[in-house]
Amino acid sequence: MNNKNSSMPTKKEKMNKKTLLRVIKTAFVVNKPLFVFAVIFIILNASCNITGPLFIQRFIDDIINPSLSIGSGMTEAIKGQIINYALIMGSLFLFGVICNWLYRYFIVLLTQGMLHKLRVDMFSHMEKLPISFFDTHHHGDIMSFYTNDADTLRMLASEALPMVLVSFVSVIAGFITMAMYSIYLLLVVILFSVIMILFAKFSAMRSAKAFMTQQTVMGEVEGFVEEMMSGQKVVKVFNHEKQTIDDFDKLNDEYYKLNLTGNIFGNILMPIIQNIGLILFITVAFVGGCIVAFGPTYNITLTGFSTLTIGTVVSFMLLSRQFTNAISQASSQLSMIVMGSAGASRVFMLLDQDVEVDNGNVTLVNCTIDDDGTIHEVPYRTGYWAWKQPANDKYPLTYRRLRGDIRFFNVDFGYTPNKIVLHDVSLYAKPGQKIAFVGATGAGKTTITNLINRFYDIADGKIRYDDININTIKKADLRRSLGIVLQDTNLFTGTIMDNIRYGRMDASDEDCIEAAKLANAHDFIMMMPEGYKTLINGDGGSLSQGQKQLISIARAACCNAPVVILDEATSSIDTRTEALVQKGIDKLMEGRTVFVIAHRLSTVQNADAIMVLDHGKVIERGTHDDLIKQKGVYYQLYTGAFELE
Ligand SMILES: Nc1ncnc2c1ncn2[C@@H]1O[C@H](COP(=O)(O)OP(=O)(O)O)[C@@H](O)[C@H]1O
Ligand SMILES: [Mg+2]
Repeated sequence: MNNKNSSMPTKKEKMNKKTLLRVIKTAFVVNKPLFVFAVIFIILNASCNITGPLFIQRFIDDIINPSLSIGSGMTEAIKGQIINYALIMGSLFLFGVICNWLYRYFIVLLTQGMLHKLRVDMFSHMEKLPISFFDTHHHGDIMSFYTNDADTLRMLASEALPMVLVSFVSVIAGFITMAMYSIYLLLVVILFSVIMILFAKFSAMRSAKAFMTQQTVMGEVEGFVEEMMSGQKVVKVFNHEKQTIDDFDKLNDEYYKLNLTGNIFGNILMPIIQNIGLILFITVAFVGGCIVAFGPTYNITLTGFSTLTIGTVVSFMLLSRQFTNAISQASSQLSMIVMGSAGASRVFMLLDQDVEVDNGNVTLVNCTIDDDGTIHEVPYRTGYWAWKQPANDKYPLTYRRLRGDIRFFNVDFGYTPNKIVLHDVSLYAKPGQKIAFVGATGAGKTTITNLINRFYDIADGKIRYDDININTIKKADLRRSLGIVLQDTNLFTGTIMDNIRYGRMDASDEDCIEAAKLANAHDFIMMMPEGYKTLINGDGGSLSQGQKQLISIARAACCNAPVVILDEATSSIDTRTEALVQKGIDKLMEGRTVFVIAHRLSTVQNADAIMVLDHGKVIERGTHDDLIKQKGVYYQLYTGAFELE
């Protein structure tokens, strides 16, 4: 059953400060001027909000109150002042709006640029990861780095963090201004704020926790549906529909409950905090009114005793409202920040994975060879290749002809350190030889080929390629010298021609067709509606398993490499076609070193050496005739079952 997040780092429900800082740093690095501008406009925007209440105070104390107490009504001077105030307030308001609009615009540019870069970084980093990474991580998990996690990261950077900065500036500015008005009133505000913050923290953590578990379960739901869709035929054949529906119901219930909890805490947070804000508003009005009534001695400010006016109280009320709004806004982002930093830490986890190490410095170069055997490196394709060993302390620069001689000396290997899969394997393949591996499923045949192309590195022993330590060869060059048909056929979306050319990107159409003919794929391709131009999709859905294998053989033939590895390349092909393909392969193999993992023993009878593997050990080796004479395991397989199944 799908268990999506089993291998993921545990999602901490706590905010990870390091991750948050790294998100900010990443955004900063993407576009420094844009980042600085965004921050400046955020601060300007938040500061503009504070000026509103300040003007109200002046307005009440300088205009309304005097005109009321004098009873003279509106004089011309006062009218002029009103217009002045209105103009100033209007301009400040407009300025605030423009700052707001600008910072949002900058933030969008910044975060989208950051995500664009992150996706490129993630993908190019992923391409450099060793095969073992993909063994140990579920594909669904890796997919979600690009979708869910990238999206929570976007919300974190584009909404939550800017909002928190706005709130932070408002809170600081509001705090100072209020302290200038009245310390007593400020104490009231602080008391209420503490209650609000405690409550917000409690419910935000609850909802973040539920939402994050919910994401894991959502992954499971997705995985389940996906698995049941691809396994629909098996479900029907074994009458498992009812069971499947029950299983789905269970998952769905869990998903529902978590969703409910998350949303309940998320949804009641704002209203409750707003209500606390309202109570504060009234309390400030009451306490403020009392102080005004009892006189100036009852009012302490940051700068000493001072009179509290009606205007100050009104202004204070507005400020306290902004203050609590800022706090509630910041708290509404709390769960987003927790979730976003979890998503971000997963994205960073991918980016921090160790890439496939390649210490190799031996490269593969085109060359020409003189009659006396001297090798000259040339920049164009000659059909001859040489290993170029750069000069070092001990040896000068040397060229060595690529011959395709591969030897294993006492190789031990395990995918995990505690489970050894290959024990003391020694073998040699001289240039042009055909070496076959036979043995039961799980004996270690594919594993041997995984070591030749260095998908994995050996634990002990030596592998030599043309007498060069395979670890010193640059991986890309090593793999370029190998034509490989993997056990699992994988085609890519594109035309059949594209898929064959994947073997060697500079192959001409004629080369590709030639390769297809070798692989005996030409005939069936010509029967397709658009021949070589027929589009196939990623999983090659419209082709039979055997046809897919033929295309992947053609792809390997196309790369024209001196060493060929065929891992059960013809396992899904009927016997008659196989005989034809075999002929093609034999033609392809002429003059090449070939490792072939055989499904049917009939196809390996002409091998120069047959290795019989059992539980990771070579138990018999020799030609077909030798092995038959030995009357060992091979003999039994050959005479008994005939096929290794
Ligand atoms: N990626 C992997 N991670 C861990 N163990 C693996 C992996 N691939 C194969 N194995 C194990 O290694 C052993 C040999 O597998 P393999 O070489 O694929 O066998 P064969 O190709 O002969 O059928 C098996 O026991 C298998 O379970
Ligand atoms: Mg295998």
